[in-house]
Amino acid sequence: MRKKIVAGNWKMNTRIADGKQLVEQIQAQAGKLDSHQYVIFCAPFTHLSEVVSNVTNENYFVGAQNCNNHLSGAFTGEISAGMLQGIGIKHVIIGHSERRQYFFESNELLKSKVDTLIAENMQIIFCCGEPLEIREANNQNDFVASQLSESLFHLSAQQIAQQVVIAYEPIWAIGTGKTASSEQAQEMHSFIRSLIQTQYGDEVADSFTLLYGGSCNAQNAAELFACKDVDGGLIGGASLKAETFVPIILAMP
Ligand code: PGA
Repeated sequence: MRKKIVAGNWKMNTRIADGKQLVEQIQAQAGKLDSHQYVIFCAPFTHLSEVVSNVTNENYFVGAQNCNNHLSGAFTGEISAGMLQGIGIKHVIIGHSERRQYFFESNELLKSKVDTLIAENMQIIFCCGEPLEIREANNQNDFVASQLSESLFHLSAQQIAQQVVIAYEPIWAIGTGKTASSEQAQEMHSFIRSLIQTQYGDEVADSFTLLYGGSCNAQNAAELFACKDVDGGLIGGASLKAETFVPIILAMP
């Protein structure tokens, strides 16, 4: 069975006390996960070292939302993968559309972050997804294929299988309340899985975890997660309260 994941992307929200309370409430309410199910709280950098000690249930993790592409050096204000690892963090989101849009992160830069995270033995949640105008022109497949081939597909089969999950997040669905339909999500996920199959073969493709993100909530999670190629979600707004996040966790097959 494929690994199923629900990851919360808190973005630049919460103070540390809220974050700790949230993590405790969610674990208490969602309870024990099956061995193939995982929950990852992607909290702001300032919270990570504290929140990590509030995570007590098995298969619950704390992750970061970004890291620098260099191993170390004169990069004022930046956080390295090794610093994260040093406080017990294993998972890092990279390539989120907000990083691409507001911080001008290119496919090439993301390739270099991927390489750094692989070298540091971290787990990557790699985001991809098209803007509205690309979807309207029906060019979403080519767009996503380039994001993946330019940043990820240089990895070996073993690296991609063991250290990467992909989150498909159509930009027009992020924070807009306008989720992709389960047909649209399944169609893109099946396309991404076919790209992985072409690149890495059946075994890697069949066991690869693909998350959906973009206005996923307690009402639509079960339908999205029931799609054959959707293995969970990357959740923004709805991850900030136990009452909206716990039902999403419980919707994981
Ligand atoms: P959203 O955000 O759930 O608030 O749409 C998802 C994301 O940006 O990862």
